Amino acid sequence: MDNHVLSVNNITKRIGKKEIIKGISFRIDKGEVFGFLGPNGAGKSTTLRMIVGLLRPTSGNIAICGHSITKNFIKAMSNVGCIIEEPDLYNYATGMKNLEMLGYMSKNISRKDIMDAVELVGMEKRIGDKVSTYSRGMKQRIGLAQALLHNPKLLVLDEPTNGLDPQGIFEFREMVKDLASEKNISVLVSSHLISEIQLMCSKVSIIKDGLVVKTGAVNDLVSSSEVYWVVDNLEKGKLIMKERFKVNAKIINNRLEAVIGLNQLEMVNASLVNEGLKLKYVNSKSKTLEELFLSLTENQKIT
Ligand SMILES: Nc1ncnc2c1ncn2[C@@H]1O[C@H](COP(=O)(O)OP(=O)(O)O)[C@@H](O)[C@H]1O
Ligand SMILES: [Mg+2]
Repeated sequence: MDNHVLSVNNITKRIGKKEIIKGISFRIDKGEVFGFLGPNGAGKSTTLRMIVGLLRPTSGNIAICGHSITKNFIKAMSNVGCIIEEPDLYNYATGMKNLEMLGYMSKNISRKDIMDAVELVGMEKRIGDKVSTYSRGMKQRIGLAQALLHNPKLLVLDEPTNGLDPQGIFEFREMVKDLASEKNISVLVSSHLISEIQLMCSKVSIIKDGLVVKTGAVNDLVSSSEVYWVVDNLEKGKLIMKERFKVNAKIINNRLEAVIGLNQLEMVNASLVNEGLKLKYVNSKSKTLEELFLSLTENQKIT
């Protein structure tokens, strides 16, 4: 039995002749805020659309709270709330009316669900005002309230802070973190900004060109560095990295290069030596998180 709130297994998406998503897998636990980080065009929105049922994967499998979206679409979707693009609101109605209209469309949403959602997004004071008088941040809160109406276990947010001012970004981020820690809601949030993911998420997948290039705890990523090794057998070294540490090392300029957590370095070095390699030189290029992200996502083709 799969206990994950979201489990994405090797999904691909082909549109026309183009394979946009080339086999993506990751899992999200209960109450986890998970970041989906990648440059524009990497495939973030396409992946999130498949997770919330707006697009059908070409192959692979997605399960939400254990329900496969292909075998049990309705059950799977009953556990997801999302903001994929800017929320579509009726500007000349009040925030409350907007929520009520959505509530009436589905049978199981009570007055209390609506009031709870309003409270969760901190809009009690302004909920009786027309949406046309709201700031972008407030509209985003109403969008979030809509996504929360049916008490989802998983919230999917595609670049939710785009277009918000710094104050709005700060408030939105704190709200998302509170939802996860206090209500145990899992959140999948995409962004092209490292700082955003770093401040909001505990785990991250970095996506490039339709593939995940790295998944890990944000704290490990922060302590990651680009390291290079000079050894007498580069191919064997590369294989050890792959098999023992699931690290994709590259052979460049007669040395082995990889991005790893510095806390792993001692173990990697010991393994190389234990496997009989002569380790002649090790060095780490210290990098900022920004540079690290760029080196992981370099050569991104613009297509
Ligand atoms: N309907 C479509 N038809 C053809 N190509 C598409 C379609 N939707 C997205 N793409 C392409 O797929 C790639 C990934 O897009 P997208 O998922 O929107 O990336 P991101 O959200 O990471 O910026 C881009 O190269 C984009 O041009
Ligand atoms: Mg996008």
